[in-house]
Amino acid sequence: MALDTVDADQAGRRQMLERIRGHQLAAMLHSAAWLELSDRIDPGDVTIEDLSAMVGVSARPLRRLLRGLAAHGVFDLSSGDIVRNNAQSRWLSRTTPGSLQAAAKYWSLPVCWTAWGDLRDALREDRNSFEVRHSQSFFSYLDENPAESQVFDQFMSASPDDRHAAVVAALALDDGVLVVDVGGGDGTLLAAILDANPSVRGLLVDRPAVIAQPHQRLGRFNSRCTALAGDFQKEVPVGDVYILSQIVHDWNDEEVTQLFQNCVDAMNPGGRVVVVERRMGSISEPGDTLNYLSDLEMLTLLPGWERTDEEYAALAEASGLKLTRITGTASPFALFELCKPA
Ligand SMILES: C[S@@+](CC[C@H](N)C(=O)[O-])C[C@H]1O[C@@H](n2cnc3c(N)ncnc32)[C@H](O)[C@@H]1O
Repeated sequence: MALDTVDADQAGRRQMLERIRGHQLAAMLHSAAWLELSDRIDPGDVTIEDLSAMVGVSARPLRRLLRGLAAHGVFDLSSGDIVRNNAQSRWLSRTTPGSLQAAAKYWSLPVCWTAWGDLRDALREDRNSFEVRHSQSFFSYLDENPAESQVFDQFMSASPDDRHAAVVAALALDDGVLVVDVGGGDGTLLAAILDANPSVRGLLVDRPAVIAQPHQRLGRFNSRCTALAGDFQKEVPVGDVYILSQIVHDWNDEEVTQLFQNCVDAMNPGGRVVVVERRMGSISEPGDTLNYLSDLEMLTLLPGWERTDEEYAALAEASGLKLTRITGTASPFALFELCKPA
C-alpha cells in the first residue's frame, strides 16, 4: 500500500474516532452552556478561580472542562489560568445575535440524550425511542415536566437555524387576514409576522401548559392577537392562513392528514395552509447534513420525519388540498403552500 494511502487511511480513522466520541464533546458544551460560562466571562478576562466562585462549581473540575474545550478551540486559556471568550465560545453567550446557548442547553438534556442513546430500540421497534422508554409521547411528558418544557420552548424560540426572520421575509400576506399559528410555541414567529404586517391579525394555538406561560412576546399586540389553548389534533379555530412551523415533521402521515383536515374544516373561503419545514433532498443530492440529524431526531423523540416535496404533495392531496407553491427562504426551511383546489 502506498504511503499516502496509509496517511489518508489514518486521517480517516482519526476523523471517525472523533465522530464516535462526538457525544462527549456535546456533553462538555452542554455543561458550559448550563453554567453560562460565556455570559460570565464577557466582556473581559476572568481567572478560573473567580469563574468557579461565580458559577458555584469547584475550580479543579472547571479547569479540566475549560482546558478540554480550549483544546477543541472553544474558549482561550492563557498562563495564570486566565480564560476569555473566543470566536467559538461567543456562540454560547446569550447576548450574541444568533446565540446557540439555548440549543446547547436543550439538545443534551438527559431526556433528549437518552432518546438518542436508545436509537437502536427505535430501529428495532420502528417507533420513536422516547415512547419505547417512557410509554408516553414527548409532548405529554413535557406537560408533566414544566422545567424541561420551558427549556424546549426557549430552544424553539431561539431557533438555531434563523428560521423566524427568514420565514417572515418569504411570506406574502394580504391586508387584514387572520393568521393562525398552529403549535406556535411562545409566539416568537407570530410576533415577527405581526411586526412585519401591521394590518394582519394573529391567533396562536398551543398546548394548555404552553399557553399558561405569560406570553410576553404577544402581549404588546393587544386586541390584534390572541393565544388559545387547544389540541390541534382535534380542531383548530377559524382563520385565513394556517402557519404550521416545525409541526408536520413531528407527526406520522395519518396524524398530519387529520391536522390538515382540521385546517380545511375551519378555513375561511380563499384560505391556505403554509407548512414551514426543511426540504429533504434525494439520495443523489442529499443537501444539508443537518436535515438528516433533524430527521433522526424525530425518530428518537416523535412519530414524524423530515419529508420530500413529493411527500408533501401526497399529504396535501390526501386531505383535499393541493401543494401550489414551494418558496425557499434564507434559512434551511421552505414554505410549502397548500390550498383548496378551485
Ligand atoms: C416543534 S414545536 C414548534 C414550535 C413553533 N411552531 C416553532 O416553529 O418554533 C411544536 C409545537 O407544537 C405544540 N403542540 C404539540 N402537540 C400539540 C397539540 N396536540 N395541540 C396544540 N399544540 C401542540 C408544542 O407545544 C410545540 O409548541
